[in-house]
Amino acid sequence: MEYILAITGASGIAYGIHILKNLPHRRILIISEGAMEVARYEMKGVSRKRISSYADATYGEKDFSAPVASGSHIFDGFILAPASMNTVAKIASGISDNLVTRVASIALKERRKFILVFREMPLSQIHLRNLLILAEAGVYVLPATPGFYHGSTDMDGLLSFVTSRVLDLLGVENKLIKRWGD
Ligand SMILES: Cc1cc2nc3c(=O)[nH]c(=O)nc-3n(C[C@H](O)[C@H](O)[C@H](O)COP(=O)(O)O)c2cc1C
Repeated sequence: MEYILAITGASGIAYGIHILKNLPHRRILIISEGAMEVARYEMKGVSRKRISSYADATYGEKDFSAPVASGSHIFDGFILAPASMNTVAKIASGISDNLVTRVASIALKERRKFILVFREMPLSQIHLRNLLILAEAGVYVLPATPGFYHGSTDMDGLLSFVTSRVLDLLGVENKLIKRWGD
């Protein structure tokens, strides 16, 4: 199996890293320049090298020669987490000006599983319209809003809640959270 995870410049870089750590191999990571800027503020001391250590291969947003830039490259799912509203708007408009938006457009045209975890608050009509466009195109749209009912409300518990929902949608078995009714 191969999964591509892209981290863009929304707050909540920790969501992307947590999902990456829990994805089965093979894991391809794309990090936008905006993501590294946000990481500088909210993940103090976490370098690109450290984030990359959880992936089998890492690319920057300008790496158009990466294998994943081609529609002929086979992968099992694309996860965009956290997704900035900038990147959401570009994908919804059909723009593919960097490796993140290029892989997103491939995931859409090749009808691959595409899971998007966005973080913004509040949402404008334009944000909502863009997210609706993507949902109508088959993207699983997840707000980065973990539930609190599973009991573990520390940082790892909240991250695990979101990661668990992403893995469930990919069909990846996981026991990250205690499920309702267990
Ligand atoms: C500290 C910080 C936090 C940010 N948080 C968000 C956010 O939560 N959601 C969002 O859509 N944009 C956020 N932004 C703005 C994006 O980083 C900005 O729109 C950037 O151009 C996104 O680039 P990218 O989509 O290529 O990664 C934040 C920026 C900074 C510096």
